[in-house]
Amino acid sequence: MIRKLILTALATVAFTAGSSFAQEVDPVIKDVPFSFDGPFGTYDQHQLQRGLQVYTEVCSACHGMKLVAIRTLGDVGGPHLAADQVKAYAAAFPVNDTASNPQYNDASGKTRALTPNDNFPANNMMGAPDMSVLAKARAAFHGPYKLGINQLIHGIGGPQYIVAILEGYTGKTKDVAGNTVYENDIFPGGWIQMPNTVLSDGQVTFADGAPNDKLSEAKDVAAFLMWAAEPKMMERKHAGFDGVFFLIILTSLLYLTNKRIWAPMKGKKTA
Ligand code: HEC
Repeated sequence: MIRKLILTALATVAFTAGSSFAQEVDPVIKDVPFSFDGPFGTYDQHQLQRGLQVYTEVCSACHGMKLVAIRTLGDVGGPHLAADQVKAYAAAFPVNDTASNPQYNDASGKTRALTPNDNFPANNMMGAPDMSVLAKARAAFHGPYKLGINQLIHGIGGPQYIVAILEGYTGKTKDVAGNTVYENDIFPGGWIQMPNTVLSDGQVTFADGAPNDKLSEAKDVAAFLMWAAEPKMMERKHAGFDGVFFLIILTSLLYLTNKRIWAPMKGKKTA
């Protein structure tokens, strides 16, 4: 009888704990594979160039990237555009939100053409957040009960979060204080102000003929935004490897030195 009671009590506790935890579980975000995953991963230059194109033609209408210098588009390991391409890109980039970018005004108060030494303009259309570090500021994988354990295996998942947001619309909309909001399973709170029409199949045509369905466009722009947020990821991984290599050599040398130093003593003991 007592055993039965204890079992029932345990089962009830487990059930209530389980259901209250269940409400806090985040939406499951798919692990989209990227070329820069894992310790040996590197950015795919062509993907970054396509992602830059998606950002320029679509996202930059609302999202700024004010911490990223345009000249870095020429960096090796990044999109690696030729110097004249970077110049032409800067000169053609429109400043949509002139009020937020007074630094790009010339003496007469008119917006001047951008140069490679400028940063991407700020833009906050409809309250869209800046994208300079978004891919590092958001996480897709939290692990059970937000312990972050999954992140050891899958990474933090910023780019996966960006892809998931773009793919996360359910198609439902509602009006909040005169503004339309869109139901999105991934966005915290479930409703996002970004319209579900921002990205669609075939919206951007890539010069290299790469697939331009919505998911491919989303992956390309997510990869580009990861590079924008962490342009030196490869250098960081190399530094890590150099460090580990150095430590292995140092450990072996110390081990051998230790053996030699103690050899006479050990020799006595066994003799
Ligand atoms: C028409 C304007 C507009 C365009 C174009 C647009 N966005 Fe947005 N985006 C917004 C707004 C506004 C928000 C903030 C939504 C909110 O807070 O409800 C947002 C939010 C986001 C978020 C979530 C940010 C967070 O805080 O977690 C992501 C990710 C995102 N946008 C990615 C993109 C990408 C990638 C593109 C280009 C393919 C893009 N957006 C194009 C308006 C836009």
